[in-house]
Amino acid sequence: MSSEVATVPVVTIATIGQHEGQTITLRGWLYNIRSSGKLLFPTFRDGTGTIQGIVPKAAVPEEVFNTLKELQLESSLTVTGKVRADSRAPSGYELDVEDIHVISPVSADDPFPITLKEHGVDFLMEHRHLWLRTPRQSAILRVRATIMRAAAEYFDTNGFIRTDPPILTPNACEGTSELFEMDYFDDDKAYLTQSGQLYIEATALALGKVYSFGPTFRAEKSKTRRHLTEFWMIEPEVAHLELSGLMDLAESFITHIVTRVLESHRADLKVIGRDVSKLEAITALGPFPRLSYEEAHAMLEKAYAEGKLENPHKDGDDFGSPDETYISSQFDKPVMVHRYPAAIKAFYMQPDPADPTKALCLDVLAPEGYGEIIGGSQRVDNYDLLKSRIEEHNLPLAAFQWYLDLRKYGSVPHAGFGMGIERAVAWICGLDHVRETIPFARTLNRIYP
Ligand code: 4AD
Ligand code: MG
Repeated sequence: MSSEVATVPVVTIATIGQHEGQTITLRGWLYNIRSSGKLLFPTFRDGTGTIQGIVPKAAVPEEVFNTLKELQLESSLTVTGKVRADSRAPSGYELDVEDIHVISPVSADDPFPITLKEHGVDFLMEHRHLWLRTPRQSAILRVRATIMRAAAEYFDTNGFIRTDPPILTPNACEGTSELFEMDYFDDDKAYLTQSGQLYIEATALALGKVYSFGPTFRAEKSKTRRHLTEFWMIEPEVAHLELSGLMDLAESFITHIVTRVLESHRADLKVIGRDVSKLEAITALGPFPRLSYEEAHAMLEKAYAEGKLENPHKDGDDFGSPDETYISSQFDKPVMVHRYPAAIKAFYMQPDPADPTKALCLDVLAPEGYGEIIGGSQRVDNYDLLKSRIEEHNLPLAAFQWYLDLRKYGSVPHAGFGMGIERAVAWICGLDHVRETIPFARTLNRIYP
C-alpha cells in the first residue's frame, strides 16, 4: 500500500506546453477576468507570458468560483489546473482551473490603476512601476535583455576584452554643453560620463580589442522620441582598425543582434505588434548599403527637387530627422553614412587624407525612419594634430594630457563606435518612443518614479 501523494509541478507560462494534459501550478497575478454567467475566463500572467483559464461553476468548489469572481486585477495568486492545447489561444494553451490560492488580494476600494482601457502616456509614465506589468511592456523588456546579452556576446566571442570606463569623469567627451556636473570634494567638479570612448582608447592600446558597456548621461535639452538623459551604450574600440574595417564590424554586430532576437522572441514581437519581415530583411544575405555624406546629400537634393522632402538639405549641415528618415527609407537594411564634414563632428575624429574637410566617421541609420543608432569613427592618431584640435575646441589641455599621451607612446590607427541600446530596442521592437525601451526612462521633464 503506497501513501504516495502526487506532487503537482510548479511551472511557468513560457514552458507550459511541455505539460499538456497534466495538472500544474502557476505562480502569478490575475491579469484580466471576464465572466458569462456560470463561466469565468480569468487571464493569468507570471512574468513569462499570459494564459487564459476556464472556470465552469459546476467544475470547481464553490469557494474557488466565488473567490475568483470577486478577485481584483493584479491580485497575486497561485493557480492549479490542467493544461489543454487550444489552437485559438494566443499562447496555444488554456488552463482548466481546479484550485486557486490568493497570496495578496488587491482591495476593491483601491483597484489597480492601469486598466485595459486606453490611458494617456503621461498617466502611464507616472505609473511606470505598474505599467511594466502589462504584456507589451514586459515583452519589450525581455527583448531588451536579449539585445544587451547579444551585443555583449558578440564582442565576448570575437576576442574583445570588456574594460569598464569610469562614470565620474573630469572632462567632456562629446561636447561640453550636455554635461551633468556635480561637486567632487574640495572645490573640484566632476561630470557624469557621456561616453566611455576616450578611456577605452587607452585600454585598446593596452589590450588590442576592447569594449565597454554601461550607462551614459547627456544633459540634452531635447524632447524628441530619440533622446534620453540617461541611456546605455555599448562601445567597441580596436587598435590597428581603420574606417572600412569599422563599417564591417558594425554590420556584423547588428546582424548578430537581430538574428538572436528573431531566434528567441517571435512570441514577444507578436505581442508588441512588430512586423518581423522587416527584421528578417536585415539578416538576409547582402551587405548594408554604404553612402558617403556627399552621396547622401545628393540623394536629399534630388528628393527635394522631386517634392519628396519638405525642406532642402544644406550641404555641410548635419542631417535632420526628416533627412535621416528619407535616406533610411530608401533601403531595407541599416544604412552606413560615412565621411561627414569634420566641422560638424567631434574633435577626436581622424580627417580623411583624400579630403581633410571630411572626417573618417560613420553613422548607422536604422531602417523605417528610426535614425541614428550607431556613431563612430577612426580617431586622430597624431599628437600634434590632436593637440591643435583640443585647442581649437577650447578644451582644457591639462585635462586631456593623458589622452594626448596615447599619441606619444606607440600611437597606431584605431577606431570604434557606440550604439545606444535604447535606440536599438526602439527600432527592433518598432516603438514610437525610446521611453518604452528602458524600465525607468530619464528625460528632460521626468525623473519619477
Ligand atoms: O553618436 P554619439 O554621440 O557617439 C559617441 O558618444 C562616441 N563617443 C561613441 C564612440 O565612438 N565610442 O553616441 C553614440 C550612440 C548614438 O548613435 C545613439 O545610439 C546613442 O549613442 N545616443 C543616445 N541614445 C539615447 N538618448 C540620447 N540622448 C543619446 N545620445 C546618443
Ligand atoms: Mg552621433
